[in-house]
Amino acid sequence: MKLKSFPKWENIVTKQTNFKAYANKGKLSNFKNTKEINNYRKQQLLNYSVCADLIKHIFNTTKINAIDIGSGGSALLYTLYNRGILNSGIGIEQSKTYHKFAELWKKNLNYNTVTNICGDALQIDYPDNMDLFLIIDSTFPLLAHENKKYPSLLLSKSYKSLTKGGIIIIEINNFHPVVINGGIKLFCKEFPNTDNFKYGIYKQTYIKNSNMVHSESTYIKKDFTVSTKEEYVYYYRLIDLKELLESYNFEVLTYFSNFSGSTFHENSSEKLVIIAKKVF
Ligand SMILES: C[S@@+](CC[C@H](N)C(=O)[O-])C[C@H]1O[C@@H](n2cnc3c(N)ncnc32)[C@H](O)[C@@H]1O
Repeated sequence: MKLKSFPKWENIVTKQTNFKAYANKGKLSNFKNTKEINNYRKQQLLNYSVCADLIKHIFNTTKINAIDIGSGGSALLYTLYNRGILNSGIGIEQSKTYHKFAELWKKNLNYNTVTNICGDALQIDYPDNMDLFLIIDSTFPLLAHENKKYPSLLLSKSYKSLTKGGIIIIEINNFHPVVINGGIKLFCKEFPNTDNFKYGIYKQTYIKNSNMVHSESTYIKKDFTVSTKEEYVYYYRLIDLKELLESYNFEVLTYFSNFSGSTFHENSSEKLVIIAKKVF
């Protein structure tokens, strides 16, 4: 699959915007008190529990070595640790504040088989005994803005670090429904009571000439404090991801619209989860 090249100015704008989107994420001053931090941790563990179920289903009783790219506060790795699935975990996160959040959480709860690395995922050397490579939460299409070769370079690195039979899971937002329905989508979500946030308001706009989606999110807390996030993500279709994975010798095993294994419908599903295997 060939990525269209972005005009230079646009590349710089998107890169800075995406960097800014997570520059303060997880900063302790974003939380009012310890209760808010604990709520956030609890909610994150809950959010990843279905993904952890799927991983448990794939690997059965085997304890795995896993890498999570764009690992944020490392909640997914901590969920796997809590389930007893993890032999070792590596979380790679570029945002210094989010990395710090992960480290504090690790220290508080003694998640000692998880290593949190702060840096750019392409600049880090990965061990060559990995069983699972995770690029979820739409991190993969976020990386394409950095440099059009980024996704390919990352797949090539992940392939080398996986053992034979190792698995890669990529989860992205499926923007196809936005693209075929006028290129713009506005919607609102109410978060569960356990969340620090009450509402999320979202606007997604497809930018045809660079094949990206400009995504603007507004989050409203229970006390009506407002925060915003803006990012640019590459628009991948299922076929694009399949071709990309296959070009790195991955065998696509299956794909779903969520971690519970629901059927993926390209014209309506919100997300795409694709699972592939290193066969030789
Ligand atoms: C969509 S978020 C994923 C959130 C995360 N999984 C969590 O637990 O909240 C994408 C994450 O990737 C990180 N990121 C962006 N570019 C990166 C890069 N080049 N290397 C490593 N992490 C990166 C961002 O800072 C952000 O935390």
